[in-house]
Amino acid sequence: MEIKNKKLFLGGVSAESLVKEFGSPLYVYEKETILKKAEELEKAITYPNKKMLYACKANTNASIMKILKEKGIGLDVVSVGELLLALKLGFKAEDILFTATMATDEELKKVIENKVLVNMDSLSEMERFGKLNKGGKCSVRINPEFGAGFHGHVVTGGPDSKFGIYHTDVEKIKKIAEKYDLNVVGVHMHVGSRYLNPDQFYKAMEILLNTAKQFDTLEFVDFGGGIGVVYSPDETMFELNAYGKKVNDIFSKFVKEYGKEVTLMFENGRWYVAESGFLLMTVNTLKETPKLKFAGVDSGMHHMARPALYGAYHEIINASNADGDKEKIVIAGNICESTDLFTRDMDGPVERELPKIKEGDILSLGCAGAYGYTMSSNYNIRERPAEVLVENGKASLIRKRETFDYLNENQII
Ligand SMILES: Cc1ncc(COP(=O)(O)O)c(C=O)c1O
Repeated sequence: MEIKNKKLFLGGVSAESLVKEFGSPLYVYEKETILKKAEELEKAITYPNKKMLYACKANTNASIMKILKEKGIGLDVVSVGELLLALKLGFKAEDILFTATMATDEELKKVIENKVLVNMDSLSEMERFGKLNKGGKCSVRINPEFGAGFHGHVVTGGPDSKFGIYHTDVEKIKKIAEKYDLNVVGVHMHVGSRYLNPDQFYKAMEILLNTAKQFDTLEFVDFGGGIGVVYSPDETMFELNAYGKKVNDIFSKFVKEYGKEVTLMFENGRWYVAESGFLLMTVNTLKETPKLKFAGVDSGMHHMARPALYGAYHEIINASNADGDKEKIVIAGNICESTDLFTRDMDGPVERELPKIKEGDILSLGCAGAYGYTMSSNYNIRERPAEVLVENGKASLIRKRETFDYLNENQII
């Protein structure tokens, strides 16, 4: 991302020319940023026997998944839909881990049939899996008592969380394993998303490793995803190299005590893709109340739900006038919901100081590569945008814009 002569350029292509060619609104991803993030993480996690997975729920665009596949990264999938896409893209079954929540027997059968390892989210799932796959292998998702994350909605550890099997239930896990002759080859945790301070994560890691010691057939320990990226200028960068070193120290000690080699696994999603993505949208309406000035755009919470869901901050750049005189303004989406604002917190609108906006200007919402398109919907019967990958001044379409015919195809009229 770069600003030249007051204009925003992504992967060497101007935002204005991208919108001219592919339409508005538009998701744009910089390939170089994805590669850079993958390399940074690979370098920081120094434990030699490691395997990196990408939690593709963050962004399931096939072209993006293929970029990470080419870097030797496997996949964490949470549904049969993600699994089938992964297999279609050529990910090998042994490079995929299935970590669903509330999985049905039908879903489990599909995963077993495709020879992909299932990570148990509950004792119920393990019992049902045992009946379907006697003598098989599995791993178990442990709830290690501690959670971490940027918002209560994304914390996935602790007694309030619906995820995993509580770490005090090891004897119950072992009983089911014995009953169905299951080989528990992995223990796993994922304690929350976008933690910038890993203190809670380290506590959870210790609990998971104490749990791991109670199984003698382990081939891997998976510490989940959740490494944070910075969205707002008030936040402090995640200290990746210090984290990698601490993880290495703790895990090396564990392996020594465990007495045999175990693979260290991570499954980050946001880390790989968040910063690569931008949602470009066009301003069509300026309007005011006695209190606030609004710029209304041709996109909204149906394309990027994070501000409406969590009051999340995303950087906004006026791509047509990136460093003009500033004014305070609220950026509003086109969905018929009061919550549909791109500049808001949990309590409501928050004015943003931005270079003067005119109708027709293109705005860019940054850090949109993770949990953007994947969380989008057709609310208000509106189409999802197209997606484009940019690299070295070249842009390629990686997903077509939806059409109304496509949206209404399955309606019985
Ligand atoms: C099981 C599992 N693993 C990994 C992740 C990836 O999290 P993040 O995108 O924060 O790295 C998630 C997302 O919440 C998840 O549910």
